[in-house]
Amino acid sequence: MKIGYVQIAPVLGDLEATIGKLDSLRNEFKAADIIVLPELCNSGYNFESMEQARVTAEDAQTGPFVRYLCSLAQEHRQCIVAGVNERDANDCQLYNSAVLVGPDGLIGKYRKLHLFMNEKDYFRPGDLGLPVFDLGVCKLGMLICFDWIFPEPWRILALKGADIVCHPSNLVLPGLAQRGVPVHALMNRIFVVTANRIGTERDMTFTGLSIIADPKGNVLAQAPEGDPQVRVVEVDIHLARNKMVTPRNHVLEDRRPDQYHELII
Ligand code: ACM
Repeated sequence: MKIGYVQIAPVLGDLEATIGKLDSLRNEFKAADIIVLPELCNSGYNFESMEQARVTAEDAQTGPFVRYLCSLAQEHRQCIVAGVNERDANDCQLYNSAVLVGPDGLIGKYRKLHLFMNEKDYFRPGDLGLPVFDLGVCKLGMLICFDWIFPEPWRILALKGADIVCHPSNLVLPGLAQRGVPVHALMNRIFVVTANRIGTERDMTFTGLSIIADPKGNVLAQAPEGDPQVRVVEVDIHLARNKMVTPRNHVLEDRRPDQYHELII
């Protein structure tokens, strides 16, 4: 199957401009079975105020960006994962979310568990756990940007059977996630697609270098630091089902959870 990323600079507070950028690249990603877009792709990242965060948020089911993604997914017969500034329909709280859409519409969503810096001023921490979606051809989990630094969610997604973790990002700490992500891929023997953004918003510069990593930690594709790029690579997703590190070592079954109780605090 074909998996890939779109590395762009979403435009802060200008959804139409961001959709214009995606539209101009769609021919490059239409052949992907799964394509991943950056974090907060409908709104931009570095809000000036709570008001700006609020007006750029949308409902994950009915919002204009999600509807646009659904139309792309339907036309291309593909699945799309994208970061969305989500406004909950019931309590109007904001979440830094990722949606998974397919040809038949919204499949599911994940809400970022580990908020970074000023995100804590705007968003509620995620409350939906770590879902894994069975797409038939593969099982897919999602993490968002700073989630990468915590080993636990990667392991939980692998234990729940994820073959691929899609990782919409707006990374700002130079080089860290780009070193860490292939290691999480190899430690859990999964595919990872990190779709990072580029560009500057006020005092923040985003680090690009989006990545596709395979279950042995090989980097199959990496974007430039400051330019937009779409990459789609063909992978054998079944490689993520082989958890044997040696003929006698299974990366999940050889764990010793009976000795790990300090983790549960
Ligand atoms: C980040 O989590 N957007 C750095």
